[in-house]
Amino acid sequence: MTPPRNSNAIRDIANVLHPYTDHRAHAKNGPLVITRGEGVRVFDDQGKEYIEAVAGLWCASLGFDSKRLAEAAYQQMLKLPFYHAFTAKSHEPLIDLSEMLIERSPCPMSKVFYANSGSEANDTAIKMIWYANNAMGRPNKKKIISRLKAYHGITIASGSLTGLPANHKMFDLPIDRILHVSTPHHYHGAAPGESEEAFATRLAEELEAVILREGPDTVAAFFAEPVMGAGGVMIPPATYFEKIQAVLRKYDVMFVADEVICGFGRTGNYWGSQTYGITPDIITCAKALSASFLPISAIIINDRVFQALADGSQTIGTWGHGFTYSGHPVAAAVALETLKIYDEIDLVGHVRKTGPHMQKKLQERFADHPLVGEVRGIGMVGAIELVADKATHKNFDPSLKLGARLTKLGEAEGVILRGLANDTIAFSPPLIMTESEIDAMVDRTGRALDALTVQLRRESIAVV
Ligand SMILES: Cc1ncc(COP(=O)(O)O)c(C=O)c1O
Repeated sequence: MTPPRNSNAIRDIANVLHPYTDHRAHAKNGPLVITRGEGVRVFDDQGKEYIEAVAGLWCASLGFDSKRLAEAAYQQMLKLPFYHAFTAKSHEPLIDLSEMLIERSPCPMSKVFYANSGSEANDTAIKMIWYANNAMGRPNKKKIISRLKAYHGITIASGSLTGLPANHKMFDLPIDRILHVSTPHHYHGAAPGESEEAFATRLAEELEAVILREGPDTVAAFFAEPVMGAGGVMIPPATYFEKIQAVLRKYDVMFVADEVICGFGRTGNYWGSQTYGITPDIITCAKALSASFLPISAIIINDRVFQALADGSQTIGTWGHGFTYSGHPVAAAVALETLKIYDEIDLVGHVRKTGPHMQKKLQERFADHPLVGEVRGIGMVGAIELVADKATHKNFDPSLKLGARLTKLGEAEGVILRGLANDTIAFSPPLIMTESEIDAMVDRTGRALDALTVQLRRESIAVV
């Protein structure tokens, strides 16, 4: 049915350029217009209800309504709607939030700097590392190592860290001085019969070989998400981070933990770094920092990094970096209130109970499904990966776009899913989700997958 001429859909097609969208397909298919939220659910402009299985973009940790956060924003807007932090200006939400983040850091940290998105936080971390190494008298130590399939954002530097072809092709990325090592995904990366530990050893050896090939005096930092998210929800193999960190320490290479998805409880600890025994020099975080009610991201640095930045700023007379909205008072006030809510409701404790339930339900419903090769996850993040051959782990031809088809069928069943590369469907629901809501999310997804299976059989696409 053609939508009426003044509908949201038509006006959207006429005027909006969407992120991560095939613009030609969008002109034919139109948008899904979401108008309101309630708990773990959102509603479209036709009144249809959906369970949000990905918390929007892995971010709406407290779901889609909170009078308390709205009130925190309103009160701050009445009191001081804007002030900046340049040239030593400050305000109370900025001071309070920074104190809270330092107190909650997974290892001793020194200072917090703010940006507005995960991408800007990672760009800032790169600039900090380059600046710090200049200040430390090692101007050649500038290369940054990331991983294939990593997701660190889309700005020019963070998009270069990202290890996904769609973020590089036609954008002329990555920039120089950014290198990518192998993805720590045992399911696809391990040799036949290779244990997780042996695979992790091999990846650490690869990292060491890259550092030696490039020259340790040229390699500055290693960026990693504790659990790789947008690249496909990849859980690191046992002993991976222990072995990687031993190599980094040997060559004095900094560790930046990108906690943009994992931070604030997602993996069953406050930080993903705690789940995997990571001691980062720098942490970047965003998303659940403000429950995504307002844009804010943070870069938390240790004292070694801070001392180098302080020395450099003294030499030059300033640290020439900062956004108009670094630590925006309204966003900071909302983030502060968010962290208070996490403490009061013991969100991490909740995830420790509900996370295992979600993992069990995903396993029960999907592990034996003929289309599913791997069910994986930890805490409240998980995925199912569709494969053409369960024995060889071979994926379907990407041109079949099965992930996108399943996502569409999910919408019909009332669940918003996210299809990633390799026909991987991610689950990263609001962290407040209850066990019965998890059951409903899994049921609806299961029905969508069964519908896809029927369609593929009809189209004679191999389904054993
Ligand atoms: C791990 C990680 N880092 C960075 C980013 C980029 O964040 P933003 O989209 O806010 O720029 C994302 C976004 O999904 C992410 O998942």
